[in-house]
Order: sequence, then structure tokens, then C-alpha cells
Amino acid sequence: VGKEAINTDIVTLTRFLTEEQFKHKEATGDFTLLCHALQFAFKSISYYIRRATLINLTGLAGASNATGDDQKKLDVIGNDLFISAMKSSGRVRVLVSEEEEEAIIFNEYPNARYAVACDPIDGSSNLDAGVSVGTIFAIYKLPEGAQGTKEDLLKPGTEMVASGFTMYGASAQLVITMKGGTVNGFTLDNSFGEFILTHPDMKIPKKRAIYSVNEGNSLYWEEPVKEYVNSLKYPDEGGKPYSARYIGSMVADAYRTLLYGGIFAYPADKKSPKGKLRILYECAPMAMVFENAGGLAVDSHMRRMLEVVPQHIHDRSGIFLGSEGEVQKVIDVHKKHG
Ligand code: AHG
Ligand code: MN
Ligand code: MN
Ligand code: MN
Repeated sequence: VGKEAINTDIVTLTRFLTEEQFKHKEATGDFTLLCHALQFAFKSISYYIRRATLINLTGLAGASNATGDDQKKLDVIGNDLFISAMKSSGRVRVLVSEEEEEAIIFNEYPNARYAVACDPIDGSSNLDAGVSVGTIFAIYKLPEGAQGTKEDLLKPGTEMVASGFTMYGASAQLVITMKGGTVNGFTLDNSFGEFILTHPDMKIPKKRAIYSVNEGNSLYWEEPVKEYVNSLKYPDEGGKPYSARYIGSMVADAYRTLLYGGIFAYPADKKSPKGKLRILYECAPMAMVFENAGGLAVDSHMRRMLEVVPQHIHDRSGIFLGSEGEVQKVIDVHKKHG
């Protein structure tokens, strides 16, 4: 009784990566090893977040980072855990982190062939309230003969070989996608200490009446954004208004949007003409996940987010991402305004 209910053929992230590697004859295993190191970074960051209140890890670290955010103690620890995992993998040449002003070059591994960008803890202003946060990552492969500098990351998102994010919520979720591939979701089983494939081949619903934006910024919004959001709240006669959901952690708002559909936006506005979210470790990796799941992602100029090229490692952009049908509405309103 119940024997057939127990899955004895579990797809762990480790197994998934091995199977992916076998699909690529030319693969050397370097990317797989890099992902194993990433996996450890996620597990350890998740562990410290869950223990934070018990071991005096709440509150501010006392410094601010390159983009002007006050660093939380966990921002610093998450960053250190991430850096150490990437360095010890021996596969990463260049690392850009939200919490590091300059790109880190691992000179001890001059032949490493990957560059990584990360937001070690996204949504860190939510940490002390126990609200979901996560880690966002983007992986680039260095071209033949690359010197290993920050320029190796100042490229359009279309150059990424893989990206994804975790969300440390009621359980820890990991979403990962590879260039031209599907999107796969894993759940950390704490007793196994393994990420288990629970959401294979994720596809975002084509539409859904949910919008996610910090409406406290509406005073500063440009006309098309105001008009668009108003059209959701005050539909034509007989239409039903959209539901609003805003957590304030991009990973959590994006994860919900990926599963349920709808739109997440952080538009550029009069106060922040370049937007708030950062291209390399927030906008581009999320855009790749959403496109590979069948959704869309554009910036405030309605350009494909993945084609936006940052000039500096911490550059920002406005962003709209979500269901194809919902993002198309934003594009249509903007087009109308010319
Ligand atoms: P981070 O915690 O990595 O600095 O990112 C914060 C970002 C993102 O998670 C979220 O979508 C956004 O900031 C929320 O900003 P507001 O508080 O301005 O709404
Ligand atoms: Mn921050
Ligand atoms: Mn962030
Ligand atoms: Mn962060």
C-alpha cells in the first residue's frame, strides 16, 4: 500500500546538470562544476537567512554599496558566501556583484572560462520582516582569447549562457534556464540537502489580471505608465479591474508572476530616469527566464530587455516583464504616445 506513491527516481539538480552535460557532446564539465558551486552558495545563503533572527544577523552592516543601498548584515554575508563559492569553483574568471563596487577578477584561475553577475540577496529591505528574498545570477562564457575584465560582462543579455534566481520563501525555490532552453524549477528538500526538480519546463500563462508595481512612485511616473496602470484599475464598462500584488522583492514578485501570469514592472520615472533595477544582475537574468518561459521583457523605451547593453557594471534600467499578453498592452500604450 502506498508503495507506488513514493518516487524513487528523483531528479536532483545534480542529476539534472549531469544529464544536461551529456546532451552537449562538446561539454567539458566546467559549466556543471560552476553550477555545483552556485548550488552550494544558494544552500548556504538560505541557511543563514533562516537562522538570521537567532544568530544576530538582522539589521544593517553600517555601509552602503555602489548603487547607494544601505547594506544589511546579510547582504554582506550573502555576498561573501557567493564570492567564495565562485572563486573555489575555479571556473569563474570575472565576478560582478551588487555589493562590490568593482568587478572581481580571480587571477588565481587565469584559464577559467566564465563570467558571473549576481545579486546575492535581492529584496534585502524585506529581510528583518521575514519576507521572501532570493539570489539572482547571470552566467556568461568568455570568448576565446578574452582577457578576463569587466568588459566581458558589458554585453547584451542575449550573450548569457544561463541565468536564474532563487527565492527563499516558505521553501527555497531555484529557477534556472540555459540559452535557448526551457525553464526549470527546483525545490530545496532540507532533509536531503538537495534541490529537487519540482517544476519542469515552466511556461508562463499567456495572460492574467495581476499587476505588480510600487504604486507609491506614481507621482513620478511618465504619462504612458500612468495611463497603462489606470487602464488596469479602471477598465471599460463591464470589465473587471486587475488585482494588485507587490512584495517588494523582485525575486518573489517575479516568481509569482512566472507561475500565475500577470506583469511585474519597475518603470523608469521622473525621479529615477534610468529606473531602479540593475541590468546585469536583476533585469537581464530575469528577462532571459521570462522569455524562455514564453513571456516578454522590455525596458522603459520598449526595447527588448535582453538587447540592452550596459555601459557600466551597475547600470540600471526600467523594466516590464511578464505574460506576453500583459506586456504587449504596455507596449501598445507606449506606441500610442509615440
Ligand atoms: P536589492 O534588495 O537587491 O537591493 O533589490 C531591491 C529591489 C528589488 O528587489 C525590488 O523589486 C525593488 O528593489 C523594490 O524597490 P522599492 O522598495 O522601491 O519598491
Ligand atoms: Mn541592495
Ligand atoms: Mn535586487
Ligand atoms: Mn541585493
